[in-house]
Amino acid sequence: MKGIIFNIVESVVIAEQGIDAWDDVIDESGVLGAYTSLGTYPDSDLLAIASSVASRVNATPSAVIKHVGHQGLSRIYDRYPEFFTDHDDVLSFLLSIDSIIHPEVRSLYPGADVPFFTYNVVDEHTLEMTYRSSRKRCDFAEGLILGAAEHYGQTVDIARPRCMMRGDDDCVLRVTTT
Ligand code: HEM
Repeated sequence: MKGIIFNIVESVVIAEQGIDAWDDVIDESGVLGAYTSLGTYPDSDLLAIASSVASRVNATPSAVIKHVGHQGLSRIYDRYPEFFTDHDDVLSFLLSIDSIIHPEVRSLYPGADVPFFTYNVVDEHTLEMTYRSSRKRCDFAEGLILGAAEHYGQTVDIARPRCMMRGDDDCVLRVTTT
């Protein structure tokens, strides 16, 4: 996993719990903890960090990963506003992830291993995104989608009729603007 993702996690944890808490989380989770944005680090670090944060705030690691995605989206916007400005609404933005954003990420971050999305436009309010990645970070994806909706001043419901965490072959995130 690219260091930029860990930079985002770090920024969210420090903003909400302080620098000492972040240092404790790094110690407790047994990870290296010094992440540069272009570096590549073990995927397992994310779960180790999320598990440590989860035990501090009495939540599940899954909920922490989703929360970090939700709060982290605005940090992505701060670094890459150009990915957002071509769109007026969240569903249009989401449709650009697989064909524009993540391919561009592969150039910006050599060696980036981004997930794949395929889409089914159900109607003007509902988009089904099928997520495929060996990392099974659908919680992170869901959080990012919530953050993206907020960015466009919208609210969404997200259902997950299929999920790899429940043994399905892929995850379906059914996003409906409300
Ligand atoms: C709502 C919009 C987005 C969603 C749902 C999404 C989803 C994800 C997920 C779930 C991952 C974790 C890796 C995996 O699942 O295999 C990921 C990785 C990543 N995404 Fe996105 N993403 C979004 C927007 C963006 C944007 C705007 C950027 C702009 C820079 C970005 C950059 C990255 C990078 C750098 C990685 C790490 C790749 C690696 O570690 O090799 N994503 N994305």
